[in-house]
Amino acid sequence: MGRYHFVFPRWSNLLLPAIIVFALTAPPYVVFMVAWGFSPRTTDVGYMPTQPIPFSHAVHAGELGIDCRYCHNTVEHSAYAAIPPTQTCMNCHLQVHPNSEKLKPLYESYETGMPVEWIKVHDLPDYAYFNHAAHVNRGVSCVECHGRIDTMEVVHQVEPLSMKWCLDCHREPEPHLRDPDLVTQLEWGWAMTDAERIAEGTKWAEINQLQPSQDCSTCHR
Ligand code: HEC
Ligand code: HEC
Ligand code: HEC
Ligand code: HEC
Ligand code: HEC
Repeated sequence: MGRYHFVFPRWSNLLLPAIIVFALTAPPYVVFMVAWGFSPRTTDVGYMPTQPIPFSHAVHAGELGIDCRYCHNTVEHSAYAAIPPTQTCMNCHLQVHPNSEKLKPLYESYETGMPVEWIKVHDLPDYAYFNHAAHVNRGVSCVECHGRIDTMEVVHQVEPLSMKWCLDCHREPEPHLRDPDLVTQLEWGWAMTDAERIAEGTKWAEINQLQPSQDCSTCHR
């Protein structure tokens, strides 16, 4: 949301010598920072908050095979991947396990109209802009960024979501691309060799003419 402004107030004239020193030393430093995507520090990998309902992706997306988009139904159309409202769950749970202790908060939500208070797992700082549709429609699968959600009893973060991590893929996306129709098939490709996988990704990079941007304004707007 916020842009980066470098506005110097008038008194900064007093700092001119310091600014000149900065200007002489900053470029190599800035180039270095940009080249490496800043600090490669990992952020919150493994973060796994306890949710108000013990909802299992392993059961729903894995065993029952419900497509991610049935619940996260905005993921192809907008920046934000919607968390399903209570009604989506009730499509089944009006009938399935109506007396379950685990589902009590769901039934309370249904009666009161108050949403279930799911806790956000993946959370970028506000100054970084991310867009789901821009990735999913171009053949970047959920699995590249969220791991095997379809085998998780409880969702946890598997990638650092750092700027370096974003840029590593924007520089060399081929190993991570596939047919956009297969983005929610998380197990797809497991039997391929690395060479076959890269050949497949290179093919889709060409078909869709992909050129992920490294401009600051792509992710900081
Ligand atoms: C397409 C149908 C369907 C939808 C939609 C669905 N579920 Fe389920 N859910 C099931 C089925 C079937 C089971 C039972 C699986 C089993 O027993 O192995 C289940 C089991 C559960 C359980 C375990 C209940 C117990 O007592 O063991 C919880 C908790 C649960 N679901 C939560 C949710 C929530 C929250 C949502 C919405 C985000 C949701 N489900 C959406 C079909 C669905
Ligand atoms: C039956 C509905 C349902 C299906 C199907 C489903 N999800 Fe979810 N998903 C949820 C709910 C509810 C939450 C919030 C609770 C939680 O984090 O477990 C969630 C949370 C998530 C999160 C964490 C969001 C955050 O807070 O950062 C990710 C990532 C995710 N789902 C990915 C997927 C992927 C990938 C698939 C398909 C393989 C999928 N989901 C299938 C209902 C569903
Ligand atoms: C290129 C990486 C990437 C891909 C591909 C991706 N996600 Fe995400 N996802 C993220 C990031 C980063 C966030 C945190 C966004 C934020 O905090 O602004 C996130 C957040 C989420 C959330 C929480 C709501 C939100 O939008 O903040 C859900 C749910 C989710 N992802 C589901 C999915 C599903 C389902 C797919 C595949 C159809 C998918 N994601 C594909 C990186 C990705
Ligand atoms: C696994 C690979 C991968 C990762 C990781 C990834 N991206 Fe991307 N990103 C892509 C690809 C591929 C595109 C589509 C490029 C195109 O359309 O030419 C894209 C496009 C985008 C766009 C849309 C640009 C536009 O012109 O509209 C934004 C914004 C973006 N990425 C931000 C991020 C951010 C922020 C992160 C880290 C949180 C991230 N990406 C991580 C592969 C990735
Ligand atoms: C592909 C997306 C992407 C691009 C392009 C990008 N950034 Fe970032 N940047 C991020 C993300 C995501 C974070 C947040 C990382 C975190 O939470 O640790 C970030 C964090 C930062 C930070 C905070 C410090 C840090 O190391 O985390 C600064 C400063 C920054 N970016 C500046 C820039 C500048 C300058 C450029 C252009 C040369 C740029 N970014 C290009 C995604 C991007």
